Amino acid sequence: MNDMCLVTGAAGGIGRAITRRLARDGFRVLAADLDLAAAEQIVVGLEGDGHRAARLDVTDEGAVADLFAAAGDDGEIASVIAAAGILLFAPNGERPPITDIKLEDWELTQRVNSTGTFLLLREYLRARTVRPVPAGRFVGFSSVAAQLGGYRSSAAYIASKNAVLGLIKAGAREAAPLGITVNAVAPGLIDAPMLRLSLPPEQDGAVSAAIPLGRIGTPEDVAGAVSFLLGSDAAYLTGAVIDVNGGYRMQ
Ligand SMILES: NC(=O)c1ccc[n+]([C@@H]2O[C@H](COP(=O)([O-])OP(=O)(O)OC[C@H]3O[C@@H](n4cnc5c(N)ncnc54)[C@H](O)[C@@H]3O)[C@@H](O)[C@H]2O)c1
Repeated sequence: MNDMCLVTGAAGGIGRAITRRLARDGFRVLAADLDLAAAEQIVVGLEGDGHRAARLDVTDEGAVADLFAAAGDDGEIASVIAAAGILLFAPNGERPPITDIKLEDWELTQRVNSTGTFLLLREYLRARTVRPVPAGRFVGFSSVAAQLGGYRSSAAYIASKNAVLGLIKAGAREAAPLGITVNAVAPGLIDAPMLRLSLPPEQDGAVSAAIPLGRIGTPEDVAGAVSFLLGSDAAYLTGAVIDVNGGYRMQ
């Protein structure tokens, strides 16, 4: 297996674990992030050959299109993991109530989390329509916050991550004729920088008591679910959401 996987948000806590896992699984990884230096550092330590780093702002329509156009010369992007995301807090570090959310913060959150996922899916499907790949995969990132209404995150974040849940269903229908599956993962509380914006480690014990598996998740737990979605065992899964939350929220 030597397929190219684009991972956005590759320099983040979860993105980093995904790039390592996919490289270990035998994929070539195109590690993309706003922070090019951090993405380049991650690529240096990856198992296998042919990995690359790229600076990418997922909200930049032209940049997303250019990435897919350029990738054609170096092997097509067979799969996309859209892990880039943001969560904005109030200046006092607290979850902002709806009454305090500034329009610019609302719009930026939708732009990165949902519009960014849309732009990636659109350019991916455009490219794969012209130059098909066997068994393509698109994995979007939602959150348990979207499913539960969230306790720590803002309404802007919750809405943006619900948009991803809708987008992957529409995408699954449209991508199916191309042999591409479109799914999402919905992480619960994962020990990565975004969670640590709102949860100091000294509260881990109290929070873990509400999680049936008794612990906060690791980025590797999420990377394992992504690895499964990219593999042949997930060939008949599309339009699905994989909860990676230790039982924190059950359907
Ligand atoms: N950590 C959690 O507990 C948790 C829970 C549920 C969902 N998630 C989701 O998982 C994903 C990864 O979360 P994380 O904890 O690793 O976050 P993180 O903050 O560690 O990483 C996010 C990465 O996205 C990048 N990024 C931000 N804006 C970007 C843009 N416009 N273009 C390209 N890259 C951009 C950042 O540079 C960063 O490297 C996010 O989509 C997040 O919403 C995380």
